[in-house]
Amino acid sequence: MPIGGPKPRVLLASLLLRPGSVVSTDRLVEAVWGGARPPDPLGALRAYVSRLRAVLAPLQHGERLRYQAPGYVLAVADDELDATEFARLVAEARDRASVGDPGRAVTLFDAALALWRGDPLAEFDFAQVNADIARLADLRLGASEDRIEAMLHLGRGHEVVTELDALVRRFPGRERLAAQLMRALYGSGRQAEALAVYRDLRRRLVDELGVEPSEPVRTVHRRLLEHDPTLAPAGEPATNLPRRATAFVGRDQEMRRIDTLMRDARLLTLTGVGGVGKSRMALEVAAALDRSRFPDGVWLCELDPLADGSPVSHVVATALRVRQRHGSTIEQSVIEYLRSRKLLLVLDNCEHVLDASARLAADLMANCPGVVVLATSREFLGVHGEQV
Ligand SMILES: Nc1ncnc2c1ncn2[C@@H]1O[C@H](COP(=O)(O)OP(=O)(O)OP(=O)(O)O)[C@@H](O)[C@H]1O
Ligand SMILES: [Mg+2]
Repeated sequence: MPIGGPKPRVLLASLLLRPGSVVSTDRLVEAVWGGARPPDPLGALRAYVSRLRAVLAPLQHGERLRYQAPGYVLAVADDELDATEFARLVAEARDRASVGDPGRAVTLFDAALALWRGDPLAEFDFAQVNADIARLADLRLGASEDRIEAMLHLGRGHEVVTELDALVRRFPGRERLAAQLMRALYGSGRQAEALAVYRDLRRRLVDELGVEPSEPVRTVHRRLLEHDPTLAPAGEPATNLPRRATAFVGRDQEMRRIDTLMRDARLLTLTGVGGVGKSRMALEVAAALDRSRFPDGVWLCELDPLADGSPVSHVVATALRVRQRHGSTIEQSVIEYLRSRKLLLVLDNCEHVLDASARLAADLMANCPGVVVLATSREFLGVHGEQV
């Protein structure tokens, strides 16, 4: 914007940072000249104001830059400044989060944070307005933290690990971020790394400030060590089962039988010819089960779309949102993740990838005592312990 040297720009920045509010002439003079005032500061200020008005003229509807005792107001409509829109979206997002709707909150936080491009008011890098600019940056960081909190509540901590890691590096003293990173890592089955975050934070605080981490961070740390289930995401039931689209008829007897078998068997395979209704029955059974038996959820792994012989573990990893761990194969990562979990896996349509499904099921039976598998397949898997 061609408004001349730094002084008129400081004036504009001072007004822009408080859109719609009167900024007193005292304050403006202080911002623009500090201790080095011209002989007639108010006159000089008026001169700059008219220069600004000329620049703003093309954007004018009504008077943009208005005198109103004891100062000046920059008139902007609510939807004209992205900073205002940002504040509105963040307020709405926080509101949704506070009433237990983290999904909607995340959508709104995303919309708010998407309004940011680079650093705020980077073209006004003057000491006089730095404090205000820092305040804007702080709002952004707070919104990012609240968005991450909502993601953690949704059980989507693994999706924010990378972002959190970068934030913790950038703001190493910000304890809330460190606590969030610990929870996100723990929720992704990365307990050792979660504990390392705590160790780093504590070392820094003790060395540099001689203080221990704050109580909230210590609580997260204690819960990590105790495998406290409250660290698991609250709220939404953990499942990716589709909603039922059409009515399910008959099959009462079979349903009861499956229910009985599932009490004891850890691997149950529904077999039958194509189209007889195996997949449908498995979904009905899974949806009707007593979820308290599976605190870590009920997860459908649809193997139908796989080409023959493709890695079943990838489908499972995607369904469970498990990431491949450094130095491990995806198979190992999945088993590692499931080792300590209590959940039901529905492996649907195994016949396409019978060998790979059987290997995975055998691995699960051997290593993951809390995992129950309900499989559907035209042929049974042939795994030790399988009920058909
Ligand atoms: N009891 C039922 N009530 C209503 N619809 C059913 C029932 N059982 C199956 N269906 C429907 O019949 C169709 C075929 O069933 P499904 O896909 O479950 O068969 P399948 O045995 O898994 O077949 P495939 O071996 O080819 O995988 C689906 O559209 C399913 O919704
Ligand atoms: Mg099927």
